[in-house]
Amino acid sequence: MPTISKKGQLMPESPIRKLVPYAENAYKQGKTVYHLNIGQPDIKTPQVALDAIKIHSLDILAYTRSEGSEGYRKKIADYYAKNDIQVNHDDIIVTTGGSEALLFAFGTITDVDDEIIIPEPFYANYNGFSTASGVKVVPVISKIEDNFALPPIEEFEKLITPKTKGILICNPGNPTGYLYSKEEIKKLAKIVKKHDLFLIADEVYREFAYDGITHYSILQEEGLEKHAIVIDSVSKRYSMCGARIGCLVSKNKDVIKTALKFAQARLSPPTLAQIASEAALETPQSYFDDVIKEYVDRRNVLIEELNKIEGVQVANPKGAFYCIAQLPIKNSDAFAQWLLESFDIDGETVMVAPAGGFYSTPGVGLNQIRIAYVLNKDSLKKAVHILKEALKVYKD
Ligand SMILES: Cc1ncc(COP(=O)(O)O)c(C=O)c1O
Repeated sequence: MPTISKKGQLMPESPIRKLVPYAENAYKQGKTVYHLNIGQPDIKTPQVALDAIKIHSLDILAYTRSEGSEGYRKKIADYYAKNDIQVNHDDIIVTTGGSEALLFAFGTITDVDDEIIIPEPFYANYNGFSTASGVKVVPVISKIEDNFALPPIEEFEKLITPKTKGILICNPGNPTGYLYSKEEIKKLAKIVKKHDLFLIADEVYREFAYDGITHYSILQEEGLEKHAIVIDSVSKRYSMCGARIGCLVSKNKDVIKTALKFAQARLSPPTLAQIASEAALETPQSYFDDVIKEYVDRRNVLIEELNKIEGVQVANPKGAFYCIAQLPIKNSDAFAQWLLESFDIDGETVMVAPAGGFYSTPGVGLNQIRIAYVLNKDSLKKAVHILKEALKVYKD
């Protein structure tokens, strides 16, 4: 029997998707499942983007340049300028989603056995991308009691070894909804400069910053040009998850030159989706105003309802559209499966993401779940009601 690679065996399952077969069984039994497990927004994609792919005039659906079409990259640079971020189109490589930008970043700055420090809980697929690259994730724990604020700088410094290549943050954070302040970014900038490390910031939720707080990008931090790598995506910004378009941005020419070689190996990002993504940049501000208002309302409803459940602790998200909730249970994997298999109210149940997979420290987060507030307020209320009733009868 031919054998599977060790790396393949070590690849973690996505905690967001691993319960899908149980959800499918629930559908087969005629149940309605409220999906709080996945960041697939129900928000409409901007019409300009949809129109652009309907009316394009291509005769051949050809490859584009490996780094993405020049016209699109120039418009992305204009988008950043509007966000107070000064980059050139040559500092941008268009990728197949933010996911590929993360893979290119790992490929560009790490070798097998190198280490990347990541505040946890973190976006679960960072575990997958680092395993695929043979890289060790070194977690620094941010706590629900502190609302998941940046851990003290000394905690990072304690973890730096000769193998450390960088620090990876997600800002605003998935799964915590934490939004790093300018001061926190400055602290990180100081460490990476002192220890000559890269700072990778996954900023795919940049627009989703609430309560009047302005997002501060690592690309706005002066003196960080050689260190900063930004991961970006159209997936959530324009509710275009299926376009599969993102980008990697860095002012470090060596980073771009190297990431381009990875990009050349996969030839081209999707051509038609670049057309849609370029058009999406024309989306009027009113679209974002409406979307942000909707997410803030949903967050408020969700947090208020969760706080009413006895024994539930929840951090208040300031950005993105997720939160981590700590439940009065021992094992959220078993609980999430049980919800799909054995619990419903009038034929309705809930799918949540067990939070253990958002940590790399074994045993941490097992009593937590991640909730994506990507459903309308009524559905969120119903879903939280189901959770509340389920917790009353669930036995670990
Ligand atoms: C924090 C974060 N980074 C990156 C991604 C990857 O998104 P995509 O590949 O769709 O751009 C996601 C998707 O949910 C995410 O939440």
